[in-house]
Amino acid sequence: MPVIYLFGYPLGHSISPAMQNAALRARRIGGTRYEKLPLPPERMDDMLTALRVPQCLGANVTVPHKQSIMPRLDELTDLARHIGAVNTIVKRDGRLVGDNTDAYGFAETMRTHGVPLHGTRAAILGAGGAAAAAAYALAEQGAREIVLLNRTLARGIELADRLNPRFPQLELAINDWDALPYMKLVINATSVGMAPHGDQSPLSNLATLAADVVVFDLVYNPPITRLMRDAAGRGLRSIGGLDMLVYQGARAFELWTRQTAPVEIMRDAAARALE
Ligand code: ATR
Repeated sequence: MPVIYLFGYPLGHSISPAMQNAALRARRIGGTRYEKLPLPPERMDDMLTALRVPQCLGANVTVPHKQSIMPRLDELTDLARHIGAVNTIVKRDGRLVGDNTDAYGFAETMRTHGVPLHGTRAAILGAGGAAAAAAYALAEQGAREIVLLNRTLARGIELADRLNPRFPQLELAINDWDALPYMKLVINATSVGMAPHGDQSPLSNLATLAADVVVFDLVYNPPITRLMRDAAGRGLRSIGGLDMLVYQGARAFELWTRQTAPVEIMRDAAARALE
């Protein structure tokens, strides 16, 4: 039977199987199933073996393999290379192609919520794979300025160094917390606030944020994070991470199956799996 894997470790929390299997059923894609394969980093060879089986159509990749799997694949798309992380693997004529659908998920979420990216000033909390995808999408859409705010300075510098040559017009700053009042968009791309630590926030003080800022928390579990609650308490607009999860999954579904993704069915299944 055709199979699509989800690689990560651990994977207990993932709602992608509910979302992708609902989409496969809705499109009547005969017998194909989407399955978790929770393997630790030392079992990377087993992931590659599973991918090479002819019945395997591809995979999603999540923490901690998004970067480490890259050199083991046959090809990388330009997007995956520039973002520096793979979240989707597609089989093309038996070759394993590493791609990234997170940047699309980010841009599509902003588009559907009517948040303009062209000319904007955005702060990104974090500098990992999710932050890189958000930064890339912002830069592609013509953002004016990105301020990277990360606990580990070196990772912020690494991400800025990857963005700089490709987007020379983009104003980039690292760990400039004083810039927060000038931002139109504040994005949480850290894991802070994720269940079971839903009482935590990556931003302790929202007092300096502009009244018209949009706070976008990439965390989707819980659906309303502490950061979003704090933002609402100050009358600020906020958006949670569920839509980005759905849109990145929808793009991956289309790459594997070459069929249009049933986005509303995927959103309903994902939301139900979170209940
Ligand atoms: P992902 O692919 O989901 O982005 P990741 O690459 O592991 O995952 O990145 C996680 C991000 O969350 C990083 O920016 C990390 O900061 P460091 O680079 O300093 O590790 C950030 N992060 C995780 N836990 C954090 C915490 N308790 N406080 C602040 N930042 C945190």
